[in-house]
Amino acid sequence: EHEPYSSKLEVPEALTFDDVLLRPKESRVEPDDADLTTQVSTNVEVSVPILSAAMDTVTESDMAVAMARHGGLGVLHRNMTIDEMVEEIGRVKSADELIIPFDSVVTADPEMSVREVDDQMAREGVGGAPVVNTNGEVLGIISSTDIRPHLEVNEDDPVTEAMTDEVITASEDIDPRAAFDLMYEHKIERVPVVDDENLLVGLVTMQGILQRREYEEAVRDEDGRLRCGVAVSPFEADRAEAADEAGADILFIDTAHAHNKNVIEGAREIASTVQADVVVGNVGTREAAAELVDFADGIKVGIGPGSICTTRVVSGAGMPQITAVAQVADVANEHDVPVIADGGIRYSGDAIKAIAAGADAVMLGSYFAGTDEAPGRVVTMNGKKYKQYRGMGSVGAMKSGDSDRYLKEEPEDDEYVPEGVEAATPYKGSLQSELHQLAGGMQSGMGYVGAGTISAFKERSEFVRVSSAGQAESHAHDVVITDEAPNYSPDSD
Ligand code: XMP
Repeated sequence: EHEPYSSKLEVPEALTFDDVLLRPKESRVEPDDADLTTQVSTNVEVSVPILSAAMDTVTESDMAVAMARHGGLGVLHRNMTIDEMVEEIGRVKSADELIIPFDSVVTADPEMSVREVDDQMAREGVGGAPVVNTNGEVLGIISSTDIRPHLEVNEDDPVTEAMTDEVITASEDIDPRAAFDLMYEHKIERVPVVDDENLLVGLVTMQGILQRREYEEAVRDEDGRLRCGVAVSPFEADRAEAADEAGADILFIDTAHAHNKNVIEGAREIASTVQADVVVGNVGTREAAAELVDFADGIKVGIGPGSICTTRVVSGAGMPQITAVAQVADVANEHDVPVIADGGIRYSGDAIKAIAAGADAVMLGSYFAGTDEAPGRVVTMNGKKYKQYRGMGSVGAMKSGDSDRYLKEEPEDDEYVPEGVEAATPYKGSLQSELHQLAGGMQSGMGYVGAGTISAFKERSEFVRVSSAGQAESHAHDVVITDEAPNYSPDSD
């Protein structure tokens, strides 16, 4: 009989994506019919269970807008000032707004001439403008069709001669359907929104309504605005407050190790003061989850799985991601706290395995960093196009102000102990096609397991353990790939 050399070496094994596969099961679910709707936090539901990472080379407002329009959620990074963050949240929130708010409406002054108004509309890129007096009262509406030369309007006439003065207006509680019907019925393109005293408060446009209709799966708040998350430090209550006031839907308490007394105290304090949901991370064990379930609206999992992470090699600590997710989910699922698997996802198969392990949604960085919507320029190296992608614990990112994620004081340049690298990732084109591949692959996994919803899939899915021979068999093998597939690149091994 063999004694272990030391009890210290009687250790459990932890698994990651490549160690497991989903066991195929009898199915009556066609992949196209699999419903990916899920909960990312207590009060936020998304149409596809996918989040873009809070990293300065992944998610700013452009990414967050695109993610929400296509059914997921973007989480704005926090390597920016509070003012910049508030502005970024505002951009997401106003992107698909039904009612353009007063401040942003191009209006004409009744004193202006037809020519002046025409020039102003051309400059601002709008096709019409409410004519409003200094009190804010709506006197009429002018559109470029009222000004076209064949109507023989004299360009020096005051705008009041050319405008339509019987204005169709709407009240502030108008919904998209009613606004559409109103414009359709009167064959008009825009409707000023007024209060009880006929004072202008905003504008609804047909263009805006049609744009909203394009995004059937969009994730919106109660007011119809796109949803977004934002990363905050547990030690920056003022940033959390500002994000909450600016309308962020979820605050992500953004740390590399949330199973830490100070982090939990800070997070708990923030959660007790803000309206927004509060998701706390990252953790990777059952015990950590147990400390969070009584106050967190969601728990984010990942200690070192990320593509640009060096946490595990630098610190010697970490937890392979499938085990980390399964452990956290064991506790969190019992308390109905959603779980987000963050990092290490290279393929759609990894994403759906994370859900099988117990996650409700997944967060990705490298997968999206090469898209048009990610911040940063496309660069060409050796004839191939790339975009920059860097860890938030890399020297470059920490220098731009994020060092407290890794719990370090502001160091001198050579004192940084980074836990991430700065890299380049292949340029990929539009986010929409990446999301399409990711979601389609996940639906396919649900089809193989025979589950039509995420919750059914979490129940029904089972793993098998894969040997290294099995792992080699899973990938394209013994061939030379001649055409790139949109969802598989052996590079990302
Ligand atoms: P992927 O694999 O999707 O991972 O690129 C994105 C996630 O990685 C985490 N992250 C880091 N982890 N050092 C780390 O150890 C870093 O510098 C770093 N930057 C980001 C983060 O959780 C992100 O969502």
